[in-house]
Amino acid sequence: MAQYYYRCLADLALWKFGNLKVLQNYDNAIFKIRFIPKIVSSFAEVIILLLVSKLLIVNKFTPTSESKLSSVDFNNIPFGQVFSDHFFICDFKDGEWQTGEIKKLEPMSIHPGNLAWHYGQAIFEGMKAFKDQDNNPVLFRPELHAQRFNASARRLCMPEFPEQRFLESLQQLVDIEREWIPPSKGSALYLRPLMIAMDEAIGVRPSANYRMMILCLPVGPYYTKPVKLITEQEFIRAAHGGVGEAKAAGNYAGSLQPAQLAKANGFDQVMWLDAKEFKYVQEVGTMNIFFVVDGKIITPITNGTILKGITRMSAIEYLKSAGYEVEEKLVDINDLVQAYKEGKFTEAFGTGTAAVSTKIAAIQHDGFLMNLTEKGHPVATEVKDTLDGIRYGDVEDKWGWIVPVKSSLEMS
Ligand code: COI
Repeated sequence: MAQYYYRCLADLALWKFGNLKVLQNYDNAIFKIRFIPKIVSSFAEVIILLLVSKLLIVNKFTPTSESKLSSVDFNNIPFGQVFSDHFFICDFKDGEWQTGEIKKLEPMSIHPGNLAWHYGQAIFEGMKAFKDQDNNPVLFRPELHAQRFNASARRLCMPEFPEQRFLESLQQLVDIEREWIPPSKGSALYLRPLMIAMDEAIGVRPSANYRMMILCLPVGPYYTKPVKLITEQEFIRAAHGGVGEAKAAGNYAGSLQPAQLAKANGFDQVMWLDAKEFKYVQEVGTMNIFFVVDGKIITPITNGTILKGITRMSAIEYLKSAGYEVEEKLVDINDLVQAYKEGKFTEAFGTGTAAVSTKIAAIQHDGFLMNLTEKGHPVATEVKDTLDGIRYGDVEDKWGWIVPVKSSLEMS
């Protein structure tokens, strides 16, 4: 499409310059009266066309000559280990986003003084592409991911990536990498948009240059079995006024040491509590969390310290439409322990793009272990089956969450 616009521009320029040559042979007065307005309007046309072509421009595509696709065993893909052939890359320089490019994914050279490495100006998103029943690629609520990416960017003083360009670049990349979408249900092409600072400088200040990229990874399930959680009573994930709501890389780095300690004690993950009183449940770090208490579904309210999960939001919308009572509120861990002792707290599950809907096997708080396997996780299963069903086209998408990926023919 870009080539088409450049060709139009070249044709237009030739036509106008041709006119100009002819004009030079004319008498000066006639030139002024008859042709200056024409020349002015011609330049206006060229400028308008330039602006239009800039708006419509798609990313440059440089295909790789060697695909790794045939070496991938789609029936056995560990999460996060396998990358597709191409990625999207776009630089922010001189105060604006440059033309993006889709090209071979390979190591890149980055200066050791890069600001992102020193001060953590780095954000990311996690989303997935699936294949519907007709084998066509689809995305799940991509516009919400674009918006959350920009909310994270604002919080970390980074430039927003225009939503339309985000969506079009995703479409173009997934179209190119469509063969990388695993065929089996439960698997997907994980999409990882990220943005990092690119200034080569030491000093705490916002970078002037940035790099936005989108990577593609065929993945299976993030958690392969129900997970065992322990509440964290020493470390915190996020405090009011912090960056807990942003998908900032540093949030995940801070969770590693507590998670390692939890694993050493036989747990899979930490369940975070609030930073002040250590009693209100926040999230798990890799997912948001839901509890079933007395048949009602409760989940911590997103009050600035919790990631506004898109799977969380979708689960709430689905559960409400299915007739469940769902309440977003401050969830006191002591109330959960009490409800468990009374036999009312029966189930818990986590939601996230990677996790989808993951069953929680047990939660330990203050040395007290709540076993949550007895009732067989019916709500977690219903949420997973429904969300997966919508994504793979087996369940009607009443909400319009699914966005088909257009083929390049439709795009041009
Ligand atoms: C996601 O759910 O996509 C995330 O970014 C979480 C990460 C643990 C994979």
